[in-house]
Amino acid sequence: MATEKTYQPIGVFDSGFGGLTVLKELVRELPQYDFLYLGDSARTPYGSRSFETVYEYTLECVNHLFDKGCHLIVLACNTASAKALRSIQQKDLPKIAPNKRVLGVIRPTTEIVGNYSKTKQVGVLGTAGTIHSNSYVVEIEKFFPDLNVYQQACPMFVPLIENNEFENEGADFFIKKYASELMQQQPNIDTIILGCTHYPLIMDKIKKQLPENVTLLSQGEIVAKSLKDYLHRHPEMEANCSKQSRLDFLTTDLPETFNKAATLFYGEEVKSEHLQV
Ligand code: DGL
Repeated sequence: MATEKTYQPIGVFDSGFGGLTVLKELVRELPQYDFLYLGDSARTPYGSRSFETVYEYTLECVNHLFDKGCHLIVLACNTASAKALRSIQQKDLPKIAPNKRVLGVIRPTTEIVGNYSKTKQVGVLGTAGTIHSNSYVVEIEKFFPDLNVYQQACPMFVPLIENNEFENEGADFFIKKYASELMQQQPNIDTIILGCTHYPLIMDKIKKQLPENVTLLSQGEIVAKSLKDYLHRHPEMEANCSKQSRLDFLTTDLPETFNKAATLFYGEEVKSEHLQV
């Protein structure tokens, strides 16, 4: 059990900076807890990588977060949630850490998406990896079988965001392209999931390319509310999370490079340490 002095932060993992959009909301919703963010920025993006590679990288990072004291980890990355989470939960955790937990961001989103749509036509924007895994279609079917789901891979978004090029005209071209390709599949889509934790950074730009009645769902708040509920329902896990309002950052790349971009994305000064993978 976490006492005053123990450090057992909630781990938050992403391939790079995108998970910071989730972390921000986690800290807002659960300010008393300690959080340790790990961005695998040396190996980002994950979206175009194979199942095996995403699984291998994610498991390696999960193990590092366990080593640092985390008992509970949120994969704040849809690609890792789609391609690695199930194997880690079912195959690895029982062997390496039966009392620890790893959660993802896809399930909390699919649990509530049907509450927003009147037309029952829902869109998902995500990395190629997330879209081709079909995870959203499979998970939404479980909770809202009457919804029709249309998906659009946006392989250029993460590189544009990670390279801080998302305010420029080049980004507008791709935002328009992917938004219209999705709407062409089904013009009555009225709800779209931003199925990548990087995309809230271009949410306003995406909105401009869509009909006014379309609701865009970003995951930060959804995941934060879901984690709060999870901690409430699992007091045994909650007791293993230390609460000193501490916030730490790790990057697999150069801390200086990470800090600069992360500060911009997080909206507050970020000071990270290097983690060797
Ligand atoms: N933020 C990750 C996601 O939610 C981006 C994946 C990537 O690195 O391509 O999918």
